[in-house]
Parts: sequence; structure tokens; C-alpha cells
Amino acid sequence: MNDAAPAPQVETIDDHARFVAWLRQVAPYVHAHRGRTFVVAFSGGLVEAGGLNRLVHDLSLLSAMGIRLVLVHGSRPQVQAQLVLKGVPARFHADVRITDSAALECAKEASGEIRLDIEAAFSQGLPATPMAHSKVRVVSGNFVTARPLGVIDGVDYALTGVVRKVDADAIKFTLANGAIVLLSPLGFSPTGEAFNLTMEDLACSVATAIKAEKLILLTETDGIRGADGELKSELSVQDAEAMLSAAAVKGDPAFNLKYAVKACKGGVARAHILPYSLDGGVLAELFTHDGVGTMVSPENLEKMREATPDDVGGVIKLIEPLEADGTLVKRPRELIEREIDRFVVLEHDGFIFGCAALYPFPREHMGELACLTVHPDYQGYGDGERLMKRIEQRARAAGITSLFVLTTRTAHFFIKRGFRPATVDDLPEARQNMYNWQRRSQVLLKQI
Ligand SMILES: CC(C)(COP(=O)(O)OP(=O)(O)OC[C@H]1O[C@@H](n2cnc3c(N)ncnc32)[C@H](O)[C@@H]1OP(=O)(O)O)[C@@H](O)C(=O)NCCC(=O)NCCS
Repeated sequence: MNDAAPAPQVETIDDHARFVAWLRQVAPYVHAHRGRTFVVAFSGGLVEAGGLNRLVHDLSLLSAMGIRLVLVHGSRPQVQAQLVLKGVPARFHADVRITDSAALECAKEASGEIRLDIEAAFSQGLPATPMAHSKVRVVSGNFVTARPLGVIDGVDYALTGVVRKVDADAIKFTLANGAIVLLSPLGFSPTGEAFNLTMEDLACSVATAIKAEKLILLTETDGIRGADGELKSELSVQDAEAMLSAAAVKGDPAFNLKYAVKACKGGVARAHILPYSLDGGVLAELFTHDGVGTMVSPENLEKMREATPDDVGGVIKLIEPLEADGTLVKRPRELIEREIDRFVVLEHDGFIFGCAALYPFPREHMGELACLTVHPDYQGYGDGERLMKRIEQRARAAGITSLFVLTTRTAHFFIKRGFRPATVDDLPEARQNMYNWQRRSQVLLKQI
């Protein structure tokens, strides 16, 4: 820039800084999701409400990030409209449509129309729109075999069906070739008959069959709410099942939750229930810590666990900025790789956001708590203390009786948690020899 150039507006610098900070914040999730397979199901209500184009923009962005997508659309309001148009009465039992041959024709017409709309939306490429340069291929096909739901409680559901088999290999092959797979809620029997399926059954069966990482249900339900009316941003399968059996969730949310649980039990890592009405809901759910709907997962999502060699990259990314500003002492990368089993990590949906390490000095029954770090966006929720306690447990199990920490900026955190100031002479001899007199870290010690 030359001297005459106008000074940038403060507002511009702020905007720039916010943008960069935001992009850096989502980066770990981009890494975590790349190459994964997500099944995204959206109800016909989204199409009816005019939300298709916006959703397609978001999905093509996910596809550009290397996420493999299977889309399943619903068609309930469209089928309803066709029935009204033809003067055919709609019949339901226990909230499930009874599909006679007239209703099946309506379902086929509705699906055909929605499918074409989706394909058209993915084919847009106007310059200066989110779809410019997107080149997304969409493939549909006879991937699903169905069977009749049958007669239940004396009610014959006729051509209403359930999924019998999914051609997982064909779907995976199509995804591996870079296309998005699009499925309509119709399945075919080996005798060539068509059956009307529910979007949720189809999406859940496909997600389970292809072992997708995520099932995302975009419906009228805005997520699952507890007894106090608060939205649950995360639910374990166990808690979700307890809510269902206590009838603490009813109607559409219960229907969605039932399939979310079924998917997780069938090996899908996470199932998300989101409102389709929220513009950008899928992106917010996938790229922010709390999301916007409810995520169901087989175990508590925030996992504290022993680190594995796969975590080296995540740990380095986490501690790098703190090494750069001098909060943590710089560790050679090979050392972290070699000593990764000394670390415990906190992981959220594939993203490492906390770590700590234990370096034992067995002869002195002492151990060093090192590298305790929680990502700045997630500090203040008790995770630092949880990591510290986990290291204490590990130390006790290894016969260590006193734990020490060397810190330049975080002494009060440790003092508040039972550490006492000590001197370099109190350290094991080997550690004294390695003490960095330039850094002049404070030594804190705790009997455990
Ligand atoms: C220290 C650290 C791990 C705490 O993580 P955290 O998840 O926020 O911890 P918790 O939620 O359990 O505890 C938060 C408490 O720590 C306090 N705290 C955080 N950083 C602190 C610091 N540098 N000095 C003193 N106290 C600090 C907070 O004020 C808060 O206090 P409160 O309990 O009175 O509310 C985190 O701040 C961090 O990663 N810091 C940078 C790395 C570092 O300094 N590590 C220690 C060197 S080994």
C-alpha cells in the first residue's frame, strides 16, 4: 500500500477480523465432516413453503466440502393436494396413510414433480448466485425394495409399504463417483409393484444400510423439547428412549425421534432433528457447537478419552496458537507423535477441543500435568477442570502421589484447584535439569 492510500475504515477491519475468526472457527468441522456420508431427509412441507432453492444451495456447499449426500424427500402435502384435486378422500390410521391405488397414483405424481424440481434446483448455475460453478450431479434409481406394511390391528394399509432392502453397494458406488443420490418415498417389490413409504422410514433404512455418519431430518418439528419446554440440543439414545417410553414427546416430534433412535441403534453415528423453516439450519447444525435442533447420539457426545495416533493433528491444531503466544512451551511435532498416548482429549463430533497430558516420574512417585488446554470458544464450561481430574485419576492409578504443573500465566486456575506454590528444587531431578530458566515458569504442586 502506498502512503496516499486511504486508511481502512475501522468497521471494515472489524468485519474482516470477524469473518476470519468465523472461518477459522468452522474449519475444524470442515475437516471433521470431509469424506463422510450424510443422509438428509426433508419433508414435502419444505418444498411447499418455497424453501427448496435455499436448501439446495446449502447442500451443494456441503457437497463442495467433500461431504457425500443422500437426499430423501417427503411428499405428504403434495399427495394431499393431488387427492383433493381428484376428489379422492385421504385415509389415515394411527397417523399413517392407507394407500389405495388412487392414492398411490397421487403419490407417484407428487414424487415425480418434486424430484424434477430438485433436479432443476441442482442444475442452476447462474453467475453471482450460490450455485455458480457448482456442477452437482444428482442420481436417482431403484435402490430400494419395499414390502407392504400389511394388516395391523385389523386395518389393511394396502399399498402403504415399508423398506425391505436397500441396495447399499449401488448407493455407495454412486456416491463414490461424486454424485448426490436422490430418493423418493416409493419402493418397489420384486413383483414390480410400487409402495408408498414414509420419508422417515426410508431415510433411516438407507442411513443404516450404508452406515452413514449422520441422518438429518428436516421437518415441521423444531427439535425435541424437555418437560420444561427447553429445546434439547443433544440427547443420548438412552435418554431419547426414556422420553419416548414415558410419552414425554408426542405427535410428529415423537415420530421423528423414534427414527432418530432407530438409526443410531442401527450404527448411524448421529441423527439430527431440525426445523426446515430455519434458513441455513443444516449449516448451523453442522458447523456450530450447539447447533439449532436436536442431535441424538449413541453416547454422550462430548467424549473425554485417551488420545490415539489419529488425534495428533487435532492436538497440534489446538495447542499451536498457545505455543505461538508463549502460553505453552513449544513441543516438537515428533515428540507429540511419539508421546500421544500420554494425552487425554476432549472430542466433539470429530473435533478435538481440549487436551491434557501426564508425564510420569515413577522413581519419585511424581507426575507432571502438561499441556492442559481448552479451545478458547469452549472455555468456562468446566472442561479444564474435568481434564485435570482425569489426569489426576490416571496419575493415582500409576502410583503417583504428587502432581506438579509449570505455568507462566495460569497459576490461579491451579491454585484454586488445590495446587500450592513450590520451587524448582521440589521437582524430580530429571525435570530440574530440563527446567527453562529463561521462561521462569511457576512451579505448583498438589498431593493427590
Ligand atoms: C486453563 C484452561 C485449560 C481452563 O479451561 P476451562 O475449560 O475454561 O476451565 P474451567 O471451565 O474448568 O474453569 C474456568 C475457570 O478457570 C479460570 N481461568 C481460565 N484461565 C485462567 C488463567 N489463565 N488464570 C487463572 N484462571 C483462569 C476462569 O476464570 C474460570 O474461573 P472460575 O472457576 O472462577 O469461574 C483454559 O483457559 C486454557 O486452555 N488456557 C490456555 C492454556 C493454559 O494456560 N494452560 C495451562 C498451562 S499448563
